[in-house]
Amino acid sequence: MLQSVIEEADSVFATAQSEEVLLHAKARFLGKAGSVAALMARMREIPPADRPGFGQAVNAAKDRVEALLQHNLLRLRAEARNRDLAGPFVDLTLPGRRAEAGAVHPLRLVERKMLAVFSEMGFEVALGPEVETDFHNFTALNFPPDHPARDMQDTFLTTDGRLLRTHTSPVQIRTMLANEPPIRIAAPGAVYRCDTLDMTHSPNFRQVEGLVIDRAVTMADLKGTLLRFTRGLFEKDLEIRLRPSFFPFTEPSVEVDVQCVFCGGSGCRVCKHSGWIEILGAGMVDPAVLASVGLDAEVFGGFAFGIGVERVAMLFYGVDDIRHFYENDHRFLSQFA
Ligand code: DAH
Repeated sequence: MLQSVIEEADSVFATAQSEEVLLHAKARFLGKAGSVAALMARMREIPPADRPGFGQAVNAAKDRVEALLQHNLLRLRAEARNRDLAGPFVDLTLPGRRAEAGAVHPLRLVERKMLAVFSEMGFEVALGPEVETDFHNFTALNFPPDHPARDMQDTFLTTDGRLLRTHTSPVQIRTMLANEPPIRIAAPGAVYRCDTLDMTHSPNFRQVEGLVIDRAVTMADLKGTLLRFTRGLFEKDLEIRLRPSFFPFTEPSVEVDVQCVFCGGSGCRVCKHSGWIEILGAGMVDPAVLASVGLDAEVFGGFAFGIGVERVAMLFYGVDDIRHFYENDHRFLSQFA
């Protein structure tokens, strides 16, 4: 009886082809309701005088079953290991493959920095579509249908009568149509112009547009904002100067120069020995623009500005050719990582 349990365990364990099957079989012999426990339960049927001998015999049988189990466990592990060793050779001492970490593009780095400075001044980020209507890109910004100013920008037209925005200024219009003043936004994004790619021009570049609309906004607010912006961006106490200019959507309009970031104003090749570098266009929002979005120019006013991201990035990093930003040459890009 004891012997037959041992023999059965032996053959069941020996035919198990996986540890899972083996452990299942273990319960059948050594578990609470298993064959060995059933043998122990027969103690009651044994005459008291024979019980110690019977108990010893059952325990010996149990030890034997456990030994068989252990033996087969080792057998299965050895078999699994032999299968692994017979498979394809894996050299565990080879060094791992280094993951190539990406890095933020320099244009994005500069754009983020600009937005961070504006955000400190309470500006919110606004976005608009790159495919625009003529209304948002030109008409509402006070470019009359045949105004020569429209020729200032060579425009890509879409076949459905829309266009690729030539500047981020249409975000001004969308923001004023959707929100009540006070408004303070910085709008980054791609713009498109039918230009040929050269050292300083690209048909697809980026701008950050700014717009502030409130009661009693003055040109001093514009200058103060831009001064704080340039100082925050370049982290230097550079001066700025405003020169009269023209944009259809601002009156008066200015071009803003910053003291040359390379020579500090004493004159060098980059600033063409003037000590100043033009960095953006700006002005007080034209009443005609306010009227086109239904704002009362007697009550509200404000200023706007447009900054070319590539231009600022070139100054910021001392890059002399805009094309470097688009070529994705690792040797260039990795310098900013
Ligand atoms: N939209 C102008 C451009 O692309 C830049 C600009 C100038 C934006 C003056 C403005 C501004 O908001 O006030 O050339």
